[in-house]
Amino acid sequence: MSVATLRADKREEWQLSAVGWVKYRSSFADAGVPSVRRMIQLARPAPGGRVLDLACGVGVPAFDLADAVGPTGFVLGLDIAEAMVAGARRWAAAHAVTNVEFRTIPTEYEFDLPAAGFDAATCRAGLQYMVEPGRAVRAVHEALKPGGRLVAMTVGSPQRCTSLRLLEDVVARHIDMPALIPDPDPEVPGTVSLSDPADLEGLYHAAGFTDVTTEIADHPIVRAGSAEEYWDVCEQSAGPFILLLRSISPRLRDAIRADAIRELRSAFPTGPVVMTGETLITTGTRTS
Ligand SMILES: C[S@@+](CC[C@H](N)C(=O)[O-])C[C@H]1O[C@@H](n2cnc3c(N)ncnc32)[C@H](O)[C@@H]1O
Repeated sequence: MSVATLRADKREEWQLSAVGWVKYRSSFADAGVPSVRRMIQLARPAPGGRVLDLACGVGVPAFDLADAVGPTGFVLGLDIAEAMVAGARRWAAAHAVTNVEFRTIPTEYEFDLPAAGFDAATCRAGLQYMVEPGRAVRAVHEALKPGGRLVAMTVGSPQRCTSLRLLEDVVARHIDMPALIPDPDPEVPGTVSLSDPADLEGLYHAAGFTDVTTEIADHPIVRAGSAEEYWDVCEQSAGPFILLLRSISPRLRDAIRADAIRELRSAFPTGPVVMTGETLITTGTRTS
């Protein structure tokens, strides 16, 4: 499959999942608070600063960055999926946030921006889904002013990602499918394709970033009020899973759902479902 075809397929998956990301925005945004906070500490956005957020989705962490740079600053969110960008724009309009702008980009490296126009950049849970993440990191390097930092977060070890493990275990009981755990293929874009710090840091070095460091920590990733709600989030916001569910009979889909809810209730007997995962947060600086 060509790079362009793979990218187009992936874009379609994200278009499909945007419905769930908009509807269950708080499931992701509320759980994301600690990792977003850490990313912002590392990116060091200053009042009046200009920040680029690549793979912005429905605006995490763009809206927190907008708070940090204040009314004289500016945040530009870029994403390959128009439906995500539309969701972010609606949120900005509904909350009267005026120092952000969201744009759709044709590829992860075509930003159509003047060079060296941003003081900092972020990319949260985005690089691992890109067909050519190295070109994306190079494009961000070019967009940053000297001294500007890129802070990117990816998912770490698949074994330490509770949501991935549960989803894979439950589905595998019903359908024969290729396993993500224990051996993700680093060449295939997906949730754990950049789970090795050496791979992620390698992209930064190749793009010219210096002072490259990675923090590894477990962080909440998704939060839902109940087992049923958590499975709704999975069914509506995970592109490959949406496609899988469309390809099977309603009866099988219902059986997977019932099994998942049983499993979730036994793992979270007293209340909200909070899924954690190991995250890599990698920082690098453009020096010249
Ligand atoms: C897991 S979501 C993360 C969204 C947001 N940053 C957050 O933390 O909630 C991944 C985002 O990456 C975007 N994305 C995937 N491939 C991309 C690409 N090649 N270029 C730009 N954005 C991409 C998707 O459309 C989606 O919005």
